Amino acid sequence: MMTRKEGRAFLSNKIWQEVNREMNKTDQMKGLPQPSLEKSSEGYDLISLPDPNSTDLIMKDLREIVFSRESRRVYSDEKLSLEALSFLLWSSQGVKAVMKNNYATLRTVPSAGARHPFETYIFVRLVKGLKRGLYRYVALSHSLVLEKEGDFASEVADAALGQKFVGHCAATFVWSVIPYRTEWRYDLTSYKPILLDAGHICQNLYLACEALNLGTCAIAAYDQEKIDKLIGLDGYDEFVIYMAPVGKPKRY
Ligand SMILES: Cc1cc2nc3c(=O)[nH]c(=O)nc-3n(C[C@H](O)[C@H](O)[C@H](O)COP(=O)(O)O)c2cc1C
Repeated sequence: MMTRKEGRAFLSNKIWQEVNREMNKTDQMKGLPQPSLEKSSEGYDLISLPDPNSTDLIMKDLREIVFSRESRRVYSDEKLSLEALSFLLWSSQGVKAVMKNNYATLRTVPSAGARHPFETYIFVRLVKGLKRGLYRYVALSHSLVLEKEGDFASEVADAALGQKFVGHCAATFVWSVIPYRTEWRYDLTSYKPILLDAGHICQNLYLACEALNLGTCAIAAYDQEKIDKLIGLDGYDEFVIYMAPVGKPKRY
């Protein structure tokens, strides 16, 4: 169990000085191979997503988007278009460029050292053109892979400590973290930047939803073991860090 002192030390940047003093070299400095930029999609059929730049989705003024952003938890049964889902995925994790020698990706969100340690899973229920199921976003090719078919609304809600709207929505975004992608470069100083990075992703999702008159809500209250098991993550090298249901709000 973490003490308050340890928790606050984790939030502060003192660890940088301590780690720099004590740390040998990071794995990057030792010349160890860099972890891959994203999980492999080998053996899966890629489902390509519409180009997020060529859609004619209704956009609003940025000031209006920022001002109207709020957590929305009541959704209708209206289906999302594939164009809308594509735009939300691109806004939250889309790749804009790959740096030379596959060193890093530059994305629509910032990330410490451009490490981008996350994967995006989506429990799809109400998206035109997609079967219900668990999908994974393949950011490098802006496509999806189907991990498993089915309606997991009740399991997702249960994993979100009974928050029904988290599962019973059009699509639930679930972000996992692969810590080693950041640890390779930053070793024990990785954990605070990883959390800061996660916040950017969800904020971009909020703003992208608002732009399309969709609703979302950040979710950090969930059962770690249940959600990891539902997705098939080992809970150590990869585990869930944040969630966000998306739907057409009943009230706007
Ligand atoms: C890190 C984080 C975790 C959150 N977890 C939950 C959650 O599990 N369930 C929920 O209903 N809202 C959750 N929220 C939403 C907050 O309750 C909400 O942002 C806050 O009440 C302010 O409302 P607003 O977003 O409409 O401005 C979370 C928000 C953040 C930033």
